[in-house]
Amino acid sequence: MRYKCADMGSLRCPCILMEAGQCYTCTVTRNGKCDCSADWQGVCPYNEFLQRGKTAAKKGLPPESDAEVLSVKRYSGQLFTVRLGVSKGFAQRCRYAGSFITVSALGCRVPLSVLCTGWSNTQEGQETAWIEMAIQPAGPKTMELMRLSEETLGEEKRIWKIAGPFETGLLNTERLVYGEPVTVIAKGTAIAPFINIKGRITESAPVKVLADAEKLTEDFIRDYIEADEGRCSLEMVNLAEEEQKVLASVDEATQIMLLASPYYTERFLGMRPGRKNDIITANHANMCCGGGICGSCSYTDKDGVTVRRCKCTSVV
Ligand code: FES
Repeated sequence: MRYKCADMGSLRCPCILMEAGQCYTCTVTRNGKCDCSADWQGVCPYNEFLQRGKTAAKKGLPPESDAEVLSVKRYSGQLFTVRLGVSKGFAQRCRYAGSFITVSALGCRVPLSVLCTGWSNTQEGQETAWIEMAIQPAGPKTMELMRLSEETLGEEKRIWKIAGPFETGLLNTERLVYGEPVTVIAKGTAIAPFINIKGRITESAPVKVLADAEKLTEDFIRDYIEADEGRCSLEMVNLAEEEQKVLASVDEATQIMLLASPYYTERFLGMRPGRKNDIITANHANMCCGGGICGSCSYTDKDGVTVRRCKCTSVV
């Protein structure tokens, strides 16, 4: 099987997997033979690796930094948003499609998609910038984040340890063309990567959103999805019960963002296998460290190649 890596050609390439002989896009590191075609156009990770003296561009996970919790908004017992103060440069980098950060909780790093970003100047001329994330307490780490956010509601200034931003929260983002209509099919907080780039899409093209609002609240939808300039049409659907309606939208759209759990993503891609390489999908279910190191996203294919799905996807 052939693979593509979300980090290929970025500042993180070549990564530590090439040092370990496990770069999935470069067969030279695995078996000594290059199988790139003669018309390959782009950065050669192996050449970069050699020029760097056979070392990775970045070693280990990125360092963490402090971010002040500026506000917390509780939408329900199952959903809250957190606004963190960051530098303007950090906030600007978080605008990239598929951006996410990690937050430390219980000694682990929890990946969270960036929901939105902003910056402004205070009356005193000081720059302030922030990012927001939506969190659903679904397990020990996110429940710990909820506990930390509750502490945040007190007077004391609260600091969260964050790292990033990373850009691999979406797959097939290279297919996204701003200025062309987009259909978004989403369920729950998996819709966050769309919300992060919604303003830039809707300023140049119409967007149709089919949203399964399970665990989202009316307030959340009003705050983040409906609040626009009228170029974003919103229709509520039930992905489990209205498959044919969703498939009809898939068939009539050229640009699609399918942002849902692996179950629904695989189900709809399975019914439209020819669209696997052009539909933009969420990569959140494969994220733990997000850096190809912890191995929690590992998957061994039929050829016996073990890939890290936080970074790599198969090419049909
Ligand atoms: S999430 Fe850690 S290696 Fe992929």
